Amino acid sequence: MAYKDFREFLEVLKEKGELIEINRKVALDLEVGKALRKSAAISGPALIFNQNGTKFPLVGGIYNSRSKALLAFQSNEEDLFKNVLDGLKKPIAPIKVSKGPAQENILTGEKIDLSALPIPKYSPADGGAYITPGIVVSQDPETGIPDLGNYRFQVMDKKTLSFLAQPNHRFGKHIAKARKMGLKTYSVALVLGVDPILAYTCQFQVSDTTNDYEVAGGLRREAVQLIPCTTSNVLVPAFAEFVLELEIDLTKNIFEGPLGEYTGYYTPGSLKPIANVKAITHRNDAFFQALLTGVPPTENHVLKQIPFEASFFNTMKEQFPTLKKLAFPLSGGVSFYLVMGLEPRFAGEARQAILAAMASNVRPKVVIVVNTDIDVHNSTEVEWAVSFRMQPEEDTIIVKDIPAGPLDPSILDSIPLDSRVASSIGIDATYPFGSIVDDGSNRDGSSNLKETKGVLYFKVAEVPGWQTYDFPELDKARRGS
Ligand SMILES: Cc1cc2nc3c(=O)[nH]c(=O)nc-3n(C[C@H](O)[C@H](O)[C@H](O)COP(=O)(O)O)c2cc1C
Repeated sequence: MAYKDFREFLEVLKEKGELIEINRKVALDLEVGKALRKSAAISGPALIFNQNGTKFPLVGGIYNSRSKALLAFQSNEEDLFKNVLDGLKKPIAPIKVSKGPAQENILTGEKIDLSALPIPKYSPADGGAYITPGIVVSQDPETGIPDLGNYRFQVMDKKTLSFLAQPNHRFGKHIAKARKMGLKTYSVALVLGVDPILAYTCQFQVSDTTNDYEVAGGLRREAVQLIPCTTSNVLVPAFAEFVLELEIDLTKNIFEGPLGEYTGYYTPGSLKPIANVKAITHRNDAFFQALLTGVPPTENHVLKQIPFEASFFNTMKEQFPTLKKLAFPLSGGVSFYLVMGLEPRFAGEARQAILAAMASNVRPKVVIVVNTDIDVHNSTEVEWAVSFRMQPEEDTIIVKDIPAGPLDPSILDSIPLDSRVASSIGIDATYPFGSIVDDGSNRDGSSNLKETKGVLYFKVAEVPGWQTYDFPELDKARRGS
């Protein structure tokens, strides 16, 4: 059974020792960030800050480790990928209901006060307090098809927020479209505290015409229940802890930022759109949510990794059927650095895979292809392949002037986000096509080849049978007796 809501997930985390409550005063200004970072650094528990200076408990770190991700997906590591891919293939339409707990409390007019919410400032040079775990529900201004995506919002005053929607993300595309249609305002919702699969759904890479609630339904194996906002026709999850109903002013900008970003560096401040809060609705005894972004790994990266890898695998597998696994490592911000494991069926196929990856909306800056004997998640194995299976002059490609990852700090910040182009490097670290590769079937040291001159010959110098070698002295030494 899918998790019904955020609270049910918190209960499971608590049961498994993955959530603790902090019952002393912790300051929203930088101290919450320190605590979240310290716990995440040891893959530690999620934290509930009960005394944060507001009446709402603040929950952070619920997506900070792989073990919590497995609890969210209700899966073990072995079955995870298959379960996720199965869910992606069977979308389930959402159900519209007339009311839900998300609107047990409705605050409008003078009652709207963002300073009454526990919104932390995470890094010292941040422009202010930031809502980082919020899910924007933005309906395509033309078709009405909803997108779910995580977007950060800076608090400007009691009723005003500003935000960044990168031009290659759907919310950014919706805003661009609304502007083009001549709209002066555009209504969206910012949702906090939802069942974990709904949160992970935001990061699946789907087409711009996909209804993300249907994707969530497929992944949950159960329809998401939706209610309309009180001030617009935007549909939001009925069991959310908080919903901020926003009206974006498409005519004005405000200075937003800087913010410590998922690249591990600050993005400088710049002029960005204004979002006016038209209503705040919340459950009784609602939980607010915190999420630390910054030097990888953080919750931001963990949240993206499973969805990015699964959806990208789905797309690439169609053209490259020998693709066995791929990795978007946390260190590359889960987008800038990609490793794919496949067996080229003909000369140049690894290169095709590199170019296909570079052409995707993820915009990886470094793409490495290795054979399937390499564990794509093990950087030592990947570096081993790069070191010995390729020749730089023949096996690297640099493609110039393609759309860049907009927040890459190695690009001049004076260039507008939608105008940033850069280069991407591909490394084909698979065995050169046509070379002779001893597959290990005769790792007893013998070789069918008596003479290898004139061909590229790779035989792994493995010590055969070491895994199953009976070694009682070592066992004894390790037991310390
Ligand atoms: C915690 C978190 C915060 C994010 N904040 C932003 C943001 O402020 N602006 C942005 O453009 N993308 C942000 N992203 C990335 C997008 O949410 C994400 O990659 C998503 O896929 C949106 O693009 P799509 O709907 O076009 O697939 C964030 C991701 C995470 C996990």
